[in-house]
Amino acid sequence: MIIKFKLDGKEVSVDAEPNELLLNVLRDKLGVKAPKYSCGIGECGACTVLLDGEPVLSCLTLAVDANGKEVITAAGIEEEYAALISKAFSEEGAVQCGYCSPGFAVMSYLLLREKKNLSEEKVREFLRGNLCRCTGYVNIIKAVLKASEVMGGK
Ligand code: FES
Ligand code: FES
Repeated sequence: MIIKFKLDGKEVSVDAEPNELLLNVLRDKLGVKAPKYSCGIGECGACTVLLDGEPVLSCLTLAVDANGKEVITAAGIEEEYAALISKAFSEEGAVQCGYCSPGFAVMSYLLLREKKNLSEEKVREFLRGNLCRCTGYVNIIKAVLKASEVMGGK
């Protein structure tokens, strides 16, 4: 069936099978490579996107569920936040292999947009569904806190 949705700010339409996963449609049919295929079974968060503002694992979400909605991937994060997140992650050494980074970027965006007065504990709890095998999380959490500090609780 043809489904239509807003993807990173642009209207798209694509032919998707009823059982086709959103992650595959995004990567293979629409060429958006930001969400990563990692575990494929909902355990790592590398494929996280926002669906109407809510985080979903696109490896477990049917593409047809995006019909008529808005999907935001790491490539579609508002510029101001994207620049801030990218700078903080790079300065804190929070990206190594980078496979997990798009998922962390999407979740950090959500966190920075919605929450103020972040603590290490809050960030850790919010990001608990995202796995990183390289950084041990310490630098990622530092990076999110740094970005939040730069925003001044905005
Ligand atoms: S690839 Fe979706 S949770 Fe790991
Ligand atoms: S930087 Fe490698 S898994 Fe996170």
